[in-house]
Amino acid sequence: MKTSNKTVRHFLTLTDLSSTEFRDIIERASELKAMQHRGEIFEPLKNKVLAMIFEKSSTRTRVSFETGMAQFGGHAIFLSPRDTQLGRGEPVEDSARVLSSMADCLMVRTFEHEKAELLAEYSSVPVINGLTDDVHPCQLLADMQAYFEHRGDIRGKTVTWVGDGNNMCHSYMHAAKMLEFKLNIACPKGFEPQQAFIDETHDFIEITQDVAAACTGSDLIVTDVWASMGQEEEQKIREQAFADFQVNSELMARANDDALFMHCLPAHRGEEVSADVIDGTQSVVWDEAENRLHAQKALLEFLLVN
Ligand code: CP
Ligand code: NVA
Repeated sequence: MKTSNKTVRHFLTLTDLSSTEFRDIIERASELKAMQHRGEIFEPLKNKVLAMIFEKSSTRTRVSFETGMAQFGGHAIFLSPRDTQLGRGEPVEDSARVLSSMADCLMVRTFEHEKAELLAEYSSVPVINGLTDDVHPCQLLADMQAYFEHRGDIRGKTVTWVGDGNNMCHSYMHAAKMLEFKLNIACPKGFEPQQAFIDETHDFIEITQDVAAACTGSDLIVTDVWASMGQEEEQKIREQAFADFQVNSELMARANDDALFMHCLPAHRGEEVSADVIDGTQSVVWDEAENRLHAQKALLEFLLVN
């Protein structure tokens, strides 16, 4: 995967940050969270505007960016293909030039990762990836913040990814390399992560079909939906392929006693995770979700203020 042009700092993948910057953003996110919980007003982005392009649905990403910009004294604009010229075929390059001549930062959620890269190439302001088919780096800022808050440093720990080798899995692979943890990836044959991500992170990952062995001795178990956005028509085939890859209490029992459970949400109880696990005591899914707000505020500050 291409690391984006460094003259303007973009955040298209976690690897656009150094490991130190990744750690600093996690730490800053927790500081901003404490400030917000104390009710402190902090407006470093007064009069700044974030333009957000959503070509896929979203609850958390949209609300966390809009809320974050409002709390920082700025403003966010929601743009969908349904009511912008992007949806009528205006080239990404032209849209990037125009939007970045007005807004201070762009965020994009789209299908092909190359589209986010193209937007960044032609944007004169930072572009943030709010999820592509390949990666979901914002979610990893929030997940890692949640791990650090509950258990301290993740370096040297064992994390197990259960399920599809998808965008979330790829971003976990990047995080494993950058924060130096071991990542077991338990997925059915034919649903492994893309080779390019395996090549990038091979020293930190192990891929297996043996989900029980992969969870044994793990400090964190993570899963995601079996069919991602854009794969709706594969739902039935995927339900069959992933039937043995549900995170349930039996699987959690194989992990360490203090293991956490994470899921980026939205979740399908009874498919990739049982209700007793996602709603149980080891689950920190609500903290992950809330941290989207704080982690992205730290990211916006890093990109626009520092
Ligand atoms: N986890 C996540 O990105 O959620 P949304 O699709 O609701 O934004
Ligand atoms: N893998 C999921 C993540 C949703 C936040 C998807 O791409 O739909």
